[in-house]
Amino acid sequence: MTTAKKKKASSSKKEKSTNDGAGYSSSPTQLLLRIFPFWVALIGIFMALYWKESNRQQSVSSLSFPEATSLSDPNVRVAKLLFLACRRTYCHPHLQVSKRSLRATERIPQGEKLFEIPRSMHLWDLDAYRDPYVRKHLFKASHKISGNRLSQEAFLAAYLALELHRAEENPSSFDAIRLAYFDSLPTYEEFLAYHPAVQDKDLMNELLGRSAAQGVLQGYRNMINAEWEAFSAASPHFENMIGQERYLRARLVVLSRVLHVGPPGPEEVMAASFIGQQLENQDLLLDELYSYQDLIGVNLTDASGGGCIALIPLADLFNHHPHNNVDFQYKKIQPNRSGRSFVVSAVHRDIEKLSEPMASYGTLSDAHLYGRYGFNNGDGSGPIQLSLAFHHDMMKLNMTNDQYNYLPDSGTTSKFRNYQKRGLIKYLMYDDGYDGCIPGPTTHPEEAELKRLKLEHLLRIANDYERWNMLVAPRAPDILPAVTSTIPSTFSIPQFEKDFSYLEPGVERLLETCRMISLINGDFNGRAVAVLKENLDNSNFIIGPNVSDALEFRSYMCVSRWFGTRMVTMELRGKLNAEFQRLATMNRNAFGTFNWTALQVKLGEMQASQAGSALIFQRVSERWEDKKVNAEVEYTAKDLACPEEYATFLYKDDESSSGFLYY
Ligand SMILES: *[C@@H]1O[C@H](CO)[C@@H](O)[C@H](O)[C@H]1NC(C)=O
Ligand SMILES: *[C@@H]1O[C@H](CO)[C@@H](O)[C@H](O)[C@H]1NC(C)=O
Ligand SMILES: *[C@@H]1O[C@H](CO)[C@@H](O)[C@H](O)[C@H]1NC(C)=O
Ligand SMILES: *[C@@H]1O[C@H](CO)[C@@H](O)[C@H](O)[C@H]1NC(C)=O
Ligand SMILES: *[C@@H]1O[C@H](CO)[C@@H](O)[C@H](O)[C@H]1NC(C)=O
Repeated sequence: MTTAKKKKASSSKKEKSTNDGAGYSSSPTQLLLRIFPFWVALIGIFMALYWKESNRQQSVSSLSFPEATSLSDPNVRVAKLLFLACRRTYCHPHLQVSKRSLRATERIPQGEKLFEIPRSMHLWDLDAYRDPYVRKHLFKASHKISGNRLSQEAFLAAYLALELHRAEENPSSFDAIRLAYFDSLPTYEEFLAYHPAVQDKDLMNELLGRSAAQGVLQGYRNMINAEWEAFSAASPHFENMIGQERYLRARLVVLSRVLHVGPPGPEEVMAASFIGQQLENQDLLLDELYSYQDLIGVNLTDASGGGCIALIPLADLFNHHPHNNVDFQYKKIQPNRSGRSFVVSAVHRDIEKLSEPMASYGTLSDAHLYGRYGFNNGDGSGPIQLSLAFHHDMMKLNMTNDQYNYLPDSGTTSKFRNYQKRGLIKYLMYDDGYDGCIPGPTTHPEEAELKRLKLEHLLRIANDYERWNMLVAPRAPDILPAVTSTIPSTFSIPQFEKDFSYLEPGVERLLETCRMISLINGDFNGRAVAVLKENLDNSNFIIGPNVSDALEFRSYMCVSRWFGTRMVTMELRGKLNAEFQRLATMNRNAFGTFNWTALQVKLGEMQASQAGSALIFQRVSERWEDKKVNAEVEYTAKDLACPEEYATFLYKDDESSSGFLYY
């Protein structure tokens, strides 16, 4: 293998020297690709260093943490809310406030009900849509970049900001529990102490480096800013009355506490008295719900989309762990009553005395958990997201319910295509499987035509998240939560094992992309051009693993090159070791702090890049061992990109559009 690569490397180096200069100097990624041959050698070293050593976990005795053995330090605002709410509704007698969360004062057997929270205590997005001010001033808002309507979460946040303002102005028109709930929510200053979306951008860049987490966080930041901009543009009145800081606070409350309650049931008929008209029956409710499709583009009756979202006092106090022991259901609690309540129950196992009950926010990557909640368990229990799309900006961000994308919901436009094209061309600059580089249509018309078609297909899938990003399976899938989320369950840093299954099944979607990139004219029995042409409008077209062994080899090499570049862009050489040691120290003396949270998100990603890179490389070495020496040309992959001017024929007629995405 290495020999085959070396052979190619030297031949493309020769071509490069005749075309040296400007083409190679501009982007940092291009520079990193120049040192590509080195990573191949480096992986061997990394492979030896960073795999899990057989179960040498340093377990933590929770007894050495004062907070594990006593319940102190309750947040008084949260404690007051609990006190008031529990006088009116069911609360389990063995739960007590500790900091901003809850702890069990006695063991609570699984199956027991913890809370029963009636609808009257909730704030739903439906309440926002029924609010006359929201209807009059905010319904018309749309996003500047995409023209898309605002999301359910954005409306709930705007409504919360309004209600908080109204409660300040006129507290006597709110009930005591609602006022206590508002008072219990984190203030802007409290968010500033920990939430990464409101930190200084340069500081976050420094802490996260060039990680996917940094990109995901930027997505959340852009989303919140874009929403504020859209609401402000729709209503200067709202802009003046609320102000950006209050919107930010309300938005972070929604981002980090929102829950799903499903499509509205018949009981919502009675709750409705909007636009001056009383709803009398279910048909009118349905009419109302359908009207939101036209008014703001949401379908609340669609259960698969999650239905309504809500802020629910008490239920939003639980922290997250994939191995939760608390679950939620919005249901009828007495058959003879029409309303439903939000019921919180102990599930899966007992809640131990003094422990913090944990809910699950769903399967979120560490990067998304961090961007959304500013939180991570740090015990290896979550999947790690890797972004391999380093040459182009994804216009879809894969946020819950697709709530914010740069791309218009109606699909791409020439502005977006042109913006993405230049980046996408860079993936096509290796000409793997050909003897040397393809200079362009003058000398190689058929090869150039195939490349043009490949670019069309890449444009078609440029924003399909899973074709450029993957989740690596958790390092410690079975680990249970610690006694509380403020103390570690282990001091050891979770690590990967040498097992390809960490990359399955996400890597297959990346391979599909790489098969497109690595296709040569001889593939599909010489019909590659025809096959791509026939499928230009086929949105389901993928190239499966069955075309040829040589294409499979080149596709693995392409994915391998992506992982290698990802490793190098995260500055892994030397850094991984240093950051590993730094985190090991912080696990002991700075667990849960702001810097610890950011570092362990970044380190997890470094580990995943390193493991992914090594696992792919190992698979290639095993499967194509016999191609190491004197491989046929279809079994070659280049270490260096071909000269940039060879690709200019792909874009020379386009207008460029750049840099319109960021805040
Ligand atoms: C909303 O979703 C429901 C359930 O999926 C579907 O039956 C209905 O046609 C949708 N309504 C609109 C206006 O798309
Ligand atoms: C509903 O039924 C429960 C017992 O099943 C009873 O205790 C309660 O009083 C009833 N409520 C009403 C409003 O009839
Ligand atoms: C994208 O989002 C979906 C739905 O939340 C999730 O299942 C999937 O794993 C995400 N993909 C990546 C690569 O993060
Ligand atoms: C190859 O795989 C594709 C997609 O997986 C499938 O549609 C096609 O029928 C397969 N072709 C052969 C010859 O098996
Ligand atoms: C956190 O990291 C930043 C950036 O590296 C540094 O300036 C700051 O001093 C650190 N804070 C603590 C408490 O270590």
